Amino acid sequence: MELRDAVVVITGGAGGIGAALAHRFASEGARRLVLVDLDADRARAVAAAVGDVARGVGCDVSDPDAVAALVADVEADDGPIDLFCSNAGIATGEGVEASVDVWQRTWEVNVLSQVAAARALVPGWLARGGGYLLVTASAAGLLTNLGDAPYTATKHAAVGLAEWLAITYGGQGVKVSCLCPQGVRTPMLFGALSDGELAAEVVRSFGVIEPEVVAEAVVVGLRDERFLILPHPEVREYVVNKAADHDRWLAGMRKVQARLAGGA
Ligand SMILES: NC(=O)c1ccc[n+]([C@@H]2O[C@H](COP(=O)([O-])OP(=O)(O)OC[C@H]3O[C@@H](n4cnc5c(N)ncnc54)[C@H](O)[C@@H]3O)[C@@H](O)[C@H]2O)c1
Repeated sequence: MELRDAVVVITGGAGGIGAALAHRFASEGARRLVLVDLDADRARAVAAAVGDVARGVGCDVSDPDAVAALVADVEADDGPIDLFCSNAGIATGEGVEASVDVWQRTWEVNVLSQVAAARALVPGWLARGGGYLLVTASAAGLLTNLGDAPYTATKHAAVGLAEWLAITYGGQGVKVSCLCPQGVRTPMLFGALSDGELAAEVVRSFGVIEPEVVAEAVVVGLRDERFLILPHPEVREYVVNKAADHDRWLAGMRKVQARLAGGA
């Protein structure tokens, strides 16, 4: 994947990881960066900070018609989309007791938005012989997210969808990468942690990294056209351990959960 001169769309572009991707892609020489977010004002503010190559657009990516219209508008205004970063996502901090509305909203934002992007983009990419989709899932989609059942289940679905797309269309020039970070210092993670002690323990347990480190891993992963992009390299080892002995992995996760619940 060549970022120089690329037309790139980044959903969740007003937020931590999306904004860091925008700044980094601009420095890599992208021709056009369209930052898409529910919060149009913040998307425009981030675009202004990135520079002339960027513009901010308001869009709710859980609405498939809005995503289709977004793709059509960008392609009409800026030309064919080379890279679509389907990055917007939400966490809930809830367990199975979360309301059906919360489960549904999380499914729509974390999974159906990826489906809508693929439906809008893949036909054009097949006709043109290529295109690149970056799906931001999470290490929670490979492992788990302690305390957040809707997030864990939907991020697993996002990984599964990304794999399916890579297998189904990979032979026809459509490339897919799946970004699976663990903790990243963004409003999503730290907005949910009002308890300073718990925040410190999360940083200790999960090695929280800056969004710029994620952006660096993405640039390298796209350059290598690697499916799984793991800004926390230790996640690979956790996944291998999980596959080798599921029960031992579950027991280890219960211990981490008990430690977090104990506050130290
Ligand atoms: N922060 C972490 O620790 C972490 C770890 C792994 C994966 N992720 C994933 O990274 C992605 C980006 O998250 P972040 O950490 O930068 O969080 P963030 O909350 O800073 O950014 C997410 C952005 O998505 C936008 N958004 C939410 N719903 C939307 C919708 N329906 N339509 C359009 N935009 C919408 C928000 O307004 C926000 O600007 C998410 O998919 C998240 O699940 C984050």
